[in-house]
Formats: sequence, structure tokens, C-alpha cells
Amino acid sequence: MEISKYMNQIYENLSKGAFLTTKDEKVNTMTVSWGLIGIEWGTPVMTVMVRESRFTKDALDKNNEFTLTLPIPGEMAEELGFCGSKSGRDFDKIAECNLSLVNSDFIDTPIVYAKGLALECKVLYKEEINSANMCCAVKNKWYASNDFHTYYHAQIVNIKEL
Ligand SMILES: Cc1cc2nc3c(=O)[nH]c(=O)nc-3n(C[C@H](O)[C@H](O)[C@H](O)COP(=O)(O)O)c2cc1C
Repeated sequence: MEISKYMNQIYENLSKGAFLTTKDEKVNTMTVSWGLIGIEWGTPVMTVMVRESRFTKDALDKNNEFTLTLPIPGEMAEELGFCGSKSGRDFDKIAECNLSLVNSDFIDTPIVYAKGLALECKVLYKEEINSANMCCAVKNKWYASNDFHTYYHAQIVNIKEL
């Protein structure tokens, strides 16, 4: 798995919106556009940021794995909009958006199909933001309602071209 080959594509496409998919009692997906990719503990790692209020957080905390689908920019705009504004608590977003799922090779959580790239990820470490360590400007801009992110640092166990 040559992560370096995909670095630019992941960086560019993530900022346009990606599907972060989890599986608990049901498969759910939410839109993300922030994240980090790098090396930690001697392995390739994808870090995503999920706020306390998200339904996704419950599944992540329970099952410690997720997939990330990075569509080609411009594709799936409507679906990314829906999955980025509606909660899996209230909707079956997979059905509402008519999303297709494909099996992962190494984890139990499936991949939302979109032309682009998909990452299969296993959480190694999670870390809640400590607002005491945060620069005021960031805190005021992004956390006025105290809905803080948790970072999920996850080993990238597979990358698929879709
Ligand atoms: C472009 C875009 C990027 C987003 N990025 C994030 C993110 O990185 N972290 C996060 O917690 N929420 C993010 N959101 C908001 C969630 O996708 C949204 O609250 C979603 O409804 C949560 O779904 P859930 O409750 O089913 O988990 C983003 C929304 C959009 C539209």
C-alpha cells in the first residue's frame, strides 16, 4: 500500500468533503472536510475530528473503526450536503441518499461508493480537545457552543481506488 502516491489526492479531495462511515446497529455516514494524514507509531495514520454531538461519535467510540470515502471533487455534492446536515439519529442517510455500499477488505465497516478513493481505518488513539490548551481565537471561532471535537487517530489499513 503506497500511501505517498495518494497524499496529494487525499489532501485536495478531503477539503471538498468526504464520507466518514461507521457501522454499529446500522451503517451511518457523515460529511467531513478536516483531517490529518501522516505517520504515527511507525504506521500510516488518518486523523479525523468528530464533535461530541455527532451520532457518528457513538459508533466510533464503540467499534473503533471507520471508512473514509473521498469522492472526486464536484461529485456527490448533494449527498455530501445531506450527510453533512442531517443526523443518523433521525435519518437512514444511506437509504435517503440512495448510496451504494461496498465491503471493506480488512474491517467490518463498509465503504460508501463514490468515484474516487476510500480508506479503511482502525482507531489507535482518541483524544478530546482540551480547551485550556487552545488559542483563544480558535476557541471563539469554532467552539462558541462548547461542542468540542475528539481526534481519532486511525491506522490506514487499506486504500482502494473506486
Ligand atoms: C463540508 C462539511 C464538513 C464537515 N466536517 C465535519 C467534521 O470534520 N467534524 C464534525 O464533527 N462534523 C463535520 N460536519 C458536520 C457533520 O457532517 C454533521 O453534523 C452531520 O449531520 C453529523 O451526522 P451524524 O449525527 O449522523 O454523525 C461537516 C459538515 C459539512 C457540510
